Amino acid sequence: MQNIPGGVEVPKTPELLNDFERFKQRLRERTGLDLSQYKFEQTYRRIWTMVERAGFRCFTDYLNHLLKEEQRLRAFIDRLAINVSELFRNPEQFELLAREILPERLRCSYSLKIWSAGCSYGAEAYSLAILLHELAPNRPHQIWGTDIDREMLARAKQGVFQESDMRSVPAPYRERYFRPFTEHGRTLYEADPILQRYLRFEPHNLLADPYPQGFDLIACRNVVIYFSEDAKEQVFRKFFHALNPGGYLFLGNTERIFNYQQIGYENPYTFYYRKPKQEVQQWRNAS
Ligand SMILES: C[S@@+](CC[C@H](N)C(=O)[O-])C[C@H]1O[C@@H](n2cnc3c(N)ncnc32)[C@H](O)[C@@H]1O
Repeated sequence: MQNIPGGVEVPKTPELLNDFERFKQRLRERTGLDLSQYKFEQTYRRIWTMVERAGFRCFTDYLNHLLKEEQRLRAFIDRLAINVSELFRNPEQFELLAREILPERLRCSYSLKIWSAGCSYGAEAYSLAILLHELAPNRPHQIWGTDIDREMLARAKQGVFQESDMRSVPAPYRERYFRPFTEHGRTLYEADPILQRYLRFEPHNLLADPYPQGFDLIACRNVVIYFSEDAKEQVFRKFFHALNPGGYLFLGNTERIFNYQQIGYENPYTFYYRKPKQEVQQWRNAS
């Protein structure tokens, strides 16, 4: 037994470790999901908990059980990706966006192209849509919300939020952009359909799919925390190429890029990394 941070005792015999490697390989062959790019300890612990809960004693028996039903397999993959989110999560970061970053980008470009990568059920993408609609309404802005979890994307398209998603929404926005209604005794909040004109939700795997280009802002928050150091580095480099000169990468409140200068980013605000404007890049290349 090994005591892993988090207080859960997880068995880690050589047999189980080998078994876990076989589990990962077969899962990748069947689904394309490559768990070797996720942090080992966390992934091992989370999947072992699921193995035990389902009444199995090794990973491959659990996988055989999952593979018997497509729906079961899908539910497993969805559970593996933690979907926690909320509107205006870390509100001080959205204030900075509204006050400094979005106005700066709007001085360079009439409409903005934004990517909410790992958007879960869309709370971040709707928050960004509200800010853009406030600052520069009715322009052809594009906000692309992506995730590997299709169930979450279906929810994102609906734009319906729970009370727990609403706690950081500034009062005027709550009034203006959300219609409360009751369903099964619960109060839910429907986002104003006016926001939908900017939003598009699609599946995208940050560890496998090609990255689109030309973004003014990429928000990728609380997603790469599950990735291995190598996978993270690749993702940050691909985001750099996906950004327009002067564009920003916006990370979560526990995330940092330690070698940001090596990749080419500037770090003008904590949690925000900027691709230098063209002139600076040319000057750097020349010197
Ligand atoms: C904690 S949520 C973050 C939601 C939102 N960005 C926020 O900060 O509130 C993490 C999301 O990352 C998604 N995710 C995990 N691995 C991914 C991958 N390889 N590609 C795309 N999305 C992924 C999960 O499905 C999950 O919805």
